Amino acid sequence: MILNGKILSEKRLELLTEEIKESGIRPCLATVLVGDDPASHMYVRMKHKACEKVGITSVGAELPVEATTAEVLAAVEKFNKDPKVSGILVQLPLPPQVDTQAVIDAVSPEKDVDGFHPTSIGRLYSGHPKLVPCTPQGIMTMLAEHGIELAGKNAVVVGRSVDVGRPMAALLLNADATVTICHSKTQNLPAIMQQADILVSGIGKARFVTPEMVKEGAVVIDVGINHDENGKLCGDVDFDAVVEKASAITPVPGGVGPMTIATLMENTLKAAQAMSCNPAQ
Ligand code: GUN
Repeated sequence: MILNGKILSEKRLELLTEEIKESGIRPCLATVLVGDDPASHMYVRMKHKACEKVGITSVGAELPVEATTAEVLAAVEKFNKDPKVSGILVQLPLPPQVDTQAVIDAVSPEKDVDGFHPTSIGRLYSGHPKLVPCTPQGIMTMLAEHGIELAGKNAVVVGRSVDVGRPMAALLLNADATVTICHSKTQNLPAIMQQADILVSGIGKARFVTPEMVKEGAVVIDVGINHDENGKLCGDVDFDAVVEKASAITPVPGGVGPMTIATLMENTLKAAQAMSCNPAQ
């Protein structure tokens, strides 16, 4: 089974459009973009476009590459205070002179649609999530939509980032999987991966995951966005080889990626619904 994130995300976005229309709420996403990294600009553009598609208003603050921490904090604070804004997203990475953790900490937890604030992470890890990071939440949606059972399964997450690995592990644990988190210092990585019923790879190495590392019938989720030696976009998983062994697998592109943006839209509506002073009310 190929887990097609493009089709599923389009379906979710259509449902969300209806839900927003019927809710009478007009959610608003505010983005903060610092510097001129082309990939970051492209991601933010895609997010604004998705907003427009589903009926979410969006606003953006753009700061120059030499912006200070104080300037970025001021942009965040302005959106925190704005009652029309229901969700705030600071596009990462920030330039090196900016204190990224201070910026993440400054986002109001009620508007933290990225789910990176310590309050959001604490809620998730204590088993009472509100706003959950979009990529792992999108993966959970995909697994649920395809009826993939998680309770009691061995789940192995490769990567321990705040946006993917850690929240992914927490979500799988909350769903009663037995979870192992692996990372760059893990010993005998292939042997651990081989035990996985559910394997999530967020390593960032082109076609690193080969069939020898995958258990027969495993569900393989590829979070990698890499370019191979010919410049071709590919995931962490050697898809053509692993597809023979997996019971379900996500392609790159068209797997996890589109689900991330759909989940961001869902989080923005969720934040708007939870806001006591909604602009439409
Ligand atoms: N940069 C790469 N991934 C992400 C993400 O999920 N959220 C934000 N804000 N920036 C990112």
